[in-house]
Amino acid sequence: MSAVIKMLFSHCRSNLYLIVGICMGLSLSLFFAPVEIDECHEGSDSLPYMVDTHNFNDEYEPKINIEGKPQHAQKTPKVFVRPRYYSTELGIRDKLFVGVITNREYLHSRGVALNKTIAHLVDKVRYFISIPEGTKPNVSLPGIVGFTDTRSILKPFHIMKYITDNYLEDYDYYYLIKDASYINARRLIELVNKISVSQDIHMGVPGDTETYCSLDAGILLSNSIIREMKTNLDWCVKNTYSDSDDINFGRCIVHSLPVLCTSTSQGQTFHSEKLDPTFHFETSLSKLIANSNIADSVSIYPIYDHTVVYKMSAYIATTELAKVQKKISELRKVILKTAHLGPKDKRNVSWPVGNQPGNKPPGRFDVLRWTYFNETHTFLENDMDILRELHGSTKMDVDQVTKTAVERIENKYDGELKFKKLVNGYRKLDASRGMDYILDISFTELSTGKESIKRVEVCKPLGKVEILPVPYVTENSRINMILMANPQKKTETLTFMKKYAENCMEKKDKTFLMVVLLYDPSALSRGKEDVFYDIKQLALILTEKYKKDQSKVSWLSIRLPTAFTAIELDPMLRIAIADLSVKKFTAESLILFTDPGIDLRSDYLNRVRMNTISQWQIFSPIPFTGYHPDIAYAEDIKHVEMDITRNHGRYDDTNFESISFYAKDYTTMRKTIEPLSIPLVRTDKDIPELLKLSSQTLIESLFDMFVSFSDLHCFRAVEPALKIRYKDVSCAGTRSDVAYKKCIRERSFRLGHRGQLAKLILEYQSSQ
Ligand SMILES: *[C@@H]1O[C@H](CO)[C@@H](O)[C@H](O)[C@H]1NC(C)=O
Ligand SMILES: *[C@@H]1O[C@H](CO)[C@@H](O)[C@H](O)[C@H]1NC(C)=O
Ligand SMILES: *[C@@H]1O[C@H](CO)[C@@H](O)[C@H](O)[C@H]1NC(C)=O
Ligand SMILES: *[C@@H]1O[C@H](CO)[C@@H](O)[C@H](O)[C@H]1NC(C)=O
Repeated sequence: MSAVIKMLFSHCRSNLYLIVGICMGLSLSLFFAPVEIDECHEGSDSLPYMVDTHNFNDEYEPKINIEGKPQHAQKTPKVFVRPRYYSTELGIRDKLFVGVITNREYLHSRGVALNKTIAHLVDKVRYFISIPEGTKPNVSLPGIVGFTDTRSILKPFHIMKYITDNYLEDYDYYYLIKDASYINARRLIELVNKISVSQDIHMGVPGDTETYCSLDAGILLSNSIIREMKTNLDWCVKNTYSDSDDINFGRCIVHSLPVLCTSTSQGQTFHSEKLDPTFHFETSLSKLIANSNIADSVSIYPIYDHTVVYKMSAYIATTELAKVQKKISELRKVILKTAHLGPKDKRNVSWPVGNQPGNKPPGRFDVLRWTYFNETHTFLENDMDILRELHGSTKMDVDQVTKTAVERIENKYDGELKFKKLVNGYRKLDASRGMDYILDISFTELSTGKESIKRVEVCKPLGKVEILPVPYVTENSRINMILMANPQKKTETLTFMKKYAENCMEKKDKTFLMVVLLYDPSALSRGKEDVFYDIKQLALILTEKYKKDQSKVSWLSIRLPTAFTAIELDPMLRIAIADLSVKKFTAESLILFTDPGIDLRSDYLNRVRMNTISQWQIFSPIPFTGYHPDIAYAEDIKHVEMDITRNHGRYDDTNFESISFYAKDYTTMRKTIEPLSIPLVRTDKDIPELLKLSSQTLIESLFDMFVSFSDLHCFRAVEPALKIRYKDVSCAGTRSDVAYKKCIRERSFRLGHRGQLAKLILEYQSSQ
């Protein structure tokens, strides 16, 4: 017995697609070995029991059988191990596995064609090829499985072995087909959705032999049959007589479970179209359509030229689309016809007919607003902006909607109207319905030359909700927190460190804290004179205290070129600090920049762990920042717990200070921009170089840098567990006038909400 199946690494986009298939046992020697035919041993159980004729006295005399008594319970109760996924525990399986029997030389043509036409529809596709040891296919398709045994006659059994070893528990149906075919995946899925897996399914169309199904047309097997085949594969290999795969494979199935191949089961028909050898797509298609219902076929074969697969797919998709459109219009007619039969308050028909009617606001605070726009600008889009230029996807959307509306009107008036311009429009996003537009479009009447304005309503309904696949993450990663400390913030930093010890080190949370000590140019940094002496002492004490938990607080000293207060708000300073501190960590470290004014909560830290994904996503939570305590709280109840209410603070979407990422992603991103514009800071001496750039670049934060220079997902979301207490901001350390003005503005927003501020002004005025 020898291992005959090889693992192949197939490089898909992320270059990491790895199929692990270790199959043992189908063997070369067996194929030539003398064949054993299973005989029925009918004679052996013809004697049900033996009668002891010697001591035969009375057959009714009771006898005590004490052999092997007392009996023990045969099963010892097993300890239940909870599986990782619900689906495993509940035995939930995916629906359909498709195995394509193909060859190395056809992967680039037929393999790719099949991949493009079915892979996005079915649950899993695997391409099975024979490949001599040490070679690689020249195509990178996800899901290639190679067998080093090149005898094609055994291939179906290698495939079955592979499937039973790797995917036996995962799918309800398995569809096996040769590559010279077009697979109508939608029809196939419809078919398997309509039949019950509780019965054994062996479906297909008879091949040349009439008895067995044709692999060219594809064979559909239920999980129950695959299970049975698992134990009979050896028999099948030993009994491979024929040159025809159909016969060998068919016998194998029937030997495992006596269920014959059928094209109808549970009222559903498996239809497959066999094309003439002379079939030529352009010339013969119309004849084919006239004579048969190819849109209803699960597969169409043989198609040796892979370009025909694409054409076939386009044709079937078009017919499918027409069918869907027809169904929609029929449904709409029925809705209109029957609306009057509904309850009195439900008789209104939504527009477009049958679509979600949209959200009905429960009160005046929940009214969704229409945003006004003209061809180039949008007005009062949110509370902060008055006028904003349309750009990016919004602009594209407006243009596309206008174009569609204009085409519709011009068609309707038979070319009598000519588009002049978009006068204005309104748009509204309703998450329960989609995007609605109202457009006022100006046309010129060709016959009279007069201008005429038409109002058009457009709805872009939401499509099907899709689940985005995201890499698996756990809450086990260690968070490496970086905290910046400057001489002015010393007490705050000390408080934070004490709380950190209490909330994280004491609770053995997997974290690590690094305090970045920012020294002004003239500040002392040695011995007891050190401005950060207390912080360093505390770090040492905490590290010593929690040594056995491998918990640690460390520091990194950075000497600044100018006084901190002068460059406090310079984004380049942050980048410099990130450069210097991130390189202290290994590439796999999860790094979180944190603010000293927060209470660390474990749900916040866990959210950071879940939302930061190596080589995939960075995370920047939007904190809830408290208003000035004198303004937010009444005199007597100061220093209460800050609640998430509009009186106590707000989610500050201008705050980008908390950000988490993997060290590797940061270095990758930095490497891409280093040659372009922003040199990497390697020592404290490089900082002035970077600060010089700050007036030239538009980068405002680390987050900005990730957005502009990496293709990672940049995730930003409000984070209720991240609350930052109010702190005074000095705008002196900004780099330009614009930034200064912005800082002043934001500083005012942080004081209190408009109502509170207005009240203060009124109080002040009346006291004058
Ligand atoms: C892969 O090999 C086949 C022949 O086996 C060849 O026709 C095809 O062009 C090759 N594809 C690529 C991408 O090299
Ligand atoms: C194969 O199909 C998958 C899934 O639809 C797709 O992501 C991939 O790009 C396809 N590969 C090729 C070479 O067409
Ligand atoms: C139905 O439509 C009419 C007129 O368009 C409107 O006055 C009425 O409020 C609507 N009823 C409901 C239940 O939406
Ligand atoms: C849209 O409105 C803005 C602001 O009034 C104006 O500057 C702009 O020219 C308008 N665009 C068009 C195409 O009229």
